[in-house]
Amino acid sequence: MALILAASCGCHGNHSALDPAGEHAAAISSTWWLYFWTCTAIYFLVIVVVFWAMFFRRRQALQTPDLENRSDRGASVVVVGSVVVTVVILFVLLISDYTSGRALASQREVDVTIKLKAHQWWWEVQYDDPDPSKIVATANEIHIPVGKTVKLRMTSPDVIHSLWIPNLHGKRDIIPGYETVLYLHANREGKFEGQCAEFCGLQHANMRIVLIAESQQKFDVWLAHQRQPAPEPKTDQERRGRQVFLDTTCIMCHTIQGTDAWASVGPDLTHVAGRPLVGNTSPMSGGSLAGWVADPHSIKPGVRMPPHAFEPEDLRALTSYLETLK
Ligand code: CUA
Repeated sequence: MALILAASCGCHGNHSALDPAGEHAAAISSTWWLYFWTCTAIYFLVIVVVFWAMFFRRRQALQTPDLENRSDRGASVVVVGSVVVTVVILFVLLISDYTSGRALASQREVDVTIKLKAHQWWWEVQYDDPDPSKIVATANEIHIPVGKTVKLRMTSPDVIHSLWIPNLHGKRDIIPGYETVLYLHANREGKFEGQCAEFCGLQHANMRIVLIAESQQKFDVWLAHQRQPAPEPKTDQERRGRQVFLDTTCIMCHTIQGTDAWASVGPDLTHVAGRPLVGNTSPMSGGSLAGWVADPHSIKPGVRMPPHAFEPEDLRALTSYLETLK
């Protein structure tokens, strides 16, 4: 009972392979449950037989001296029977494995194509469009419309990573120099947590990703907003912040659409303040942004972004500007 309780407590949530939100995860989850219940039943059966042999049969053997000869004949029937049952169980598991594999490999017409680049230690997400001016890049979050087939074209410029968003699909390795394709299909709205599932260096554990499955209408609104260039700064402080960004090393690594910053070493910052986390680690706020810009290594040791010794006034102005990029 305790086992079942413990098992069922961990089944629900936005980071669970046993709470499927899509057909691929459902196929994985049903195979998992079949293995779980089969192994549980076999475990309890073995325990019952062991106890029966230890107590009941032992007493019987002491009371009946010629039992040994008879039990030899009985034993061979039991052994043959067990082999047959084992083979049948293994076949059922094999067929279940095969049908899940077929379900995972099934393809349909693709509605949305997303390029996903796994970097040490962040995710670059790019929404393709035949019109280059409509291509959208964001970081560490994927928005997808519910009920549509999404094709992820995944690459890595550095080491092997692995995408795992358990509510939607199984793990899939992302290998440098090779494009891996993964199809996602969400059947309900929700915000699901994902994680890099292949050790990829110092900040592997902080290489998280969020997937937001939403209605087609909400997705279209989100995508249209992402296509907008960065808003114009309104105050002197914000204007000064933008100038700091454009006049210093920030411009060598980042893009802000609508400005002269168009480098692609680090994440696209056009709508950075609309994301939930700074540097994929601390909650989004002015303080987190300032701390991240000044000394990212104290927050995320090993990160590629260098520290910046800005004058306090410049740092304040830069932070105010970045906060407007929603
Ligand atoms: Cu990327 Cu672990």
